[in-house]
Amino acid sequence: MRLASGHVAVQLEGEELAKIQRDFEGYSKGLVRLTPGRWVLPAPYTKFADKIYNTKFRETDVVIMTYPKCGTTWTQEVVWTMRNNPNLDHPKASAPVSVRSPFMDSDMLMTMGKEGSRSLMTEYLKDAVPDADPDEGIALQLTAHTPDPRTIKTHLPFSLMTPDLLDTTKVIYVARNPKDVVLSFLHHTRFMKFINYVGTLDQFVDYFVNSQLIYGPYWEHLREAWSRRDHPNMHFLFYEDMKADPKAELRKLNQFLGTDLTEEQLEKIVHYTSFESMKKHEQEALKGKNMDAFVNQEVVKKDGGFYRKGEAGGWKEQLTEEQVAKIDAWTEKNASNLGINFKYSI
Ligand code: A3P
Repeated sequence: MRLASGHVAVQLEGEELAKIQRDFEGYSKGLVRLTPGRWVLPAPYTKFADKIYNTKFRETDVVIMTYPKCGTTWTQEVVWTMRNNPNLDHPKASAPVSVRSPFMDSDMLMTMGKEGSRSLMTEYLKDAVPDADPDEGIALQLTAHTPDPRTIKTHLPFSLMTPDLLDTTKVIYVARNPKDVVLSFLHHTRFMKFINYVGTLDQFVDYFVNSQLIYGPYWEHLREAWSRRDHPNMHFLFYEDMKADPKAELRKLNQFLGTDLTEEQLEKIVHYTSFESMKKHEQEALKGKNMDAFVNQEVVKKDGGFYRKGEAGGWKEQLTEEQVAKIDAWTEKNASNLGINFKYSI
């Protein structure tokens, strides 16, 4: 199937698909691989791909683009707050981040297997757009109806978005050490019932370095953004830098976004968006919602929920020497010619 982006989407099949579906029970509708780029996505992506690709962004939009688990939600909250809630008194700030700052390509995730987070997001869509038809894309409609200025999240790489994105719109790309990403992603696929990964960490590392996880290949994702880093509408952010000195990163964002916030406002936003504070806000925002439908509570009890560790370098305690060696070899092979001079990649 040819997409508006020019990519050809081919269904994964045979032994490769069978193995993935054994380990990821939620991928019941299958996966596609796109050429060029070898992007792997849930099969329902093809239903929404052209709408996403043809989305016209506004000058007032800010797009936050990341490979999964790189600190997207954190960045969304920081940016949304800086732009919409600088004095921390916005009446709708208590709604979940994903409602205020829509995840535009998440329809394929909500429709790829079992119920997923569809019922909850349908509730939010109906609040925002009472006559909306969820089958037309919950996330796409939430995105379209989000009031300006919009802070929009995507996990898609540049080549699957409109080619003039940077001409009109500011983009913040967030990168994170792949060794922490792989552990955070593993946890995500285990506690989210709609994915329900039942394999081992060892197998998951293989899926990661073999570019069989959705939204990958990881390095290609990063490469496309890194090659645009000097564009005036592009801002590159590293999770590790945010952890090391969030205030310094907020100052840079303040300049990039033109938000003109004072040091005092930035300081307050740093605290408001800390790991502990965001975790608390999420608990409050989701109070009374039936999370059992899409969250595996046993995994949450054992390893935590969405706010798992929030650390940089946690991989040192969790990855074996062999797993580290595998990721290092893969990094050497894929990133040595990237010219990314970031210490966290290795
Ligand atoms: P861990 O699983 O390592 O804890 P994303 O939003 O892209 O899905 O990324 C999720 C990761 O960012 C999770 O990492 C999560 O805990 C972490 N995170 C979320 N909010 C954070 C915050 N305010 N400070 C630090 N890390 C945060």
